[in-house]
Amino acid sequence: MTKEKEVLSEGMKILGIDTSCDDTSVAIVEDGRSIQSNIISSQIELHKKYGGIVPELASRQHVELINYIIEEALQKADVNLTDLSAIAVTNRPGLIGALLVGVSAAKSLAYCCQLPLLGINHIEGHIYAPFMEHDQLTFPHLCLTVSGGHTLLVEVPEGWENYHVLGSTQDDAAGEAYDKVAKYLGLGFPGGKIIDDLAKMGDETAITFPRPMLNSGNYQFSYSGIKTSVRNFVEKATKNQELPSVEDIAASFQAAAVEVLVAKTIRATREKGYRTITLTGGVAANSLLRKEMEIAGEEIGAKVFYPSIRLCTDNAAMIAGLAYQKYCQGQRDDFDLNASANSEIV
Ligand code: KG4
Ligand code: ZN
Repeated sequence: MTKEKEVLSEGMKILGIDTSCDDTSVAIVEDGRSIQSNIISSQIELHKKYGGIVPELASRQHVELINYIIEEALQKADVNLTDLSAIAVTNRPGLIGALLVGVSAAKSLAYCCQLPLLGINHIEGHIYAPFMEHDQLTFPHLCLTVSGGHTLLVEVPEGWENYHVLGSTQDDAAGEAYDKVAKYLGLGFPGGKIIDDLAKMGDETAITFPRPMLNSGNYQFSYSGIKTSVRNFVEKATKNQELPSVEDIAASFQAAAVEVLVAKTIRATREKGYRTITLTGGVAANSLLRKEMEIAGEEIGAKVFYPSIRLCTDNAAMIAGLAYQKYCQGQRDDFDLNASANSEIV
């Protein structure tokens, strides 16, 4: 038997957990939008020396940290377990071992506190994030979700269900390309912010990298080719002793990566008749993407919304926030809730 709050829409505090990848995050969100705490413990230092996430290490680290992060989230929000109305957890998609840690913790909490349990899709969480900070966000809208694992153009109707995916990447995600290029250039991990910062000091016209699928006539993306072009260019230029500065390479790569994201999103906005665009996921933290999308959006009369940086990259606040909407729609999960790698959004 779980305790259900009688009033659904008021003062409902949900504890959310996200352990889908390399961040251990726990948040308390009231009524879907008011963030009482959003603790994010990054494992970057642990994975840095391997140049990417090592799944087994990520799971072990989540196990070490999860109880402390739950405690910290409660303390920061000044909330007791008895004040909570539900427990939400990312149960898909992600690294299976990592997801399982969050799912097990959420089940234990829900069972002990006799609270409703909700399994939440991580990508839907990203899509929800801009809504938490922008009252003016209207529906339906078009969402570009760009992270280390996903590059999706999604039509978002009112009601946080029945999403329609217009296009996705056929190979690497945009964030993955940033990470691989940074690794190749010896810049460190994760590469997105490092390249973003270096690019500000570089000349984006120094090298012309390809814009894959720019004119493909559909809404699909491809990011593995750009990465290979950067590698081939650097190899050749090094041999000929004509290697430009790393700032110029970063700026030129970023210009190519961002141009495709903006062009495809703007074309879809025009063709589908949208007036509102949202940017979400880790790559939505990118300064050039934000700027170029705003400029291009203004030209076609579309408003662009993106979350603050902390809500762009992985966080549990977006999970607890979306869980409130799902709770109000009647979602309740059983204790047989499982982790899944399935990335379908329904
Ligand atoms: O959403 P996220 O935290 O995790 C996934 O769900 O994948 O996204 C992480 C990705 C990484 O690939 C990282 O390099 C990229 O987001 N990223 C950025 C920036 N900040 C993070 N990419 C470009 N520019 C940034 N400023
Ligand atoms: Zn994510």
